[in-house]
Amino acid sequence: MATAAIPQAAPAVLPRHVAIIMDGNGRWAAARRLPRAMGHRAGVEAVRSVTRAARAMGIEALTLYAFSSENWRRPAEEIGGLMKLLKLFIRNDLAELVREDVRLRVLGDYRRFPEDVVALIDDALARTVDNRGPILAIALNYGAQAELVAAAQSLAARAAAGALDPMAIDAEAIDAELETHDLPPLDLLIRTSGEQRLSNFLLWQAAYAELLFVDTLWPDFDAEALAAAVEAFGRRQRRYGGL
Ligand code: FPP
Repeated sequence: MATAAIPQAAPAVLPRHVAIIMDGNGRWAAARRLPRAMGHRAGVEAVRSVTRAARAMGIEALTLYAFSSENWRRPAEEIGGLMKLLKLFIRNDLAELVREDVRLRVLGDYRRFPEDVVALIDDALARTVDNRGPILAIALNYGAQAELVAAAQSLAARAAAGALDPMAIDAEAIDAELETHDLPPLDLLIRTSGEQRLSNFLLWQAAYAELLFVDTLWPDFDAEALAAAVEAFGRRQRRYGGL
């Protein structure tokens, strides 16, 4: 763990909720003539150090995009490898998350994952449900459009049943239907590896988030990189449409 790189004093403006599109594992591996799976394995190490660093900095919520609803298009072998890494991560790191009072969350329809993975996730969620510390949300089989469709369907069903006035549906009503409803507002969204798109991640929640695209490949993103991102956030002027 790169503890030395974790800043001791909290920066003046700390984002409450940081989300990361962890991209570039494959390119990291290719640059070293390694199989893609090794890139994902190195990516888990980055997950470990960045989640520790986020906690040390006092960030209230960290959301990581680990598997998108579009990732099913990858070869079965790669998907299987990602499932194995997820299981390993839960097996190795759950005790630390429990000890550190972390509230583990999953965004997305993880119930489509293999049965043993679902069972492990359910157990991890149950064991952290009473925690009161920082939130670690992992997006698994998550897609923002599907999340918004589900919200629209739920509100429409209530309206059709006469329990909700359609004209009373406002931004707060939609917010309340989203999987992030009890997370702090998204302040900073980071994507690694130089790509500059949101790839169906937290589309609604990103409405007023600061976006930061960095060239660093995910396995190289560490505590220092997070500190630099937070510092960059602190230099941004957020106007929310005002002057
Ligand atoms: C993107 O890199 C990364 C992913 C699709 C998976 C992210 C998963 C991990 C970091 C490991 C598992 C996570 C946890 C929480 C245990 P890419 O493969 O698209 O890279 P490329 O664009 O360079 O090919």
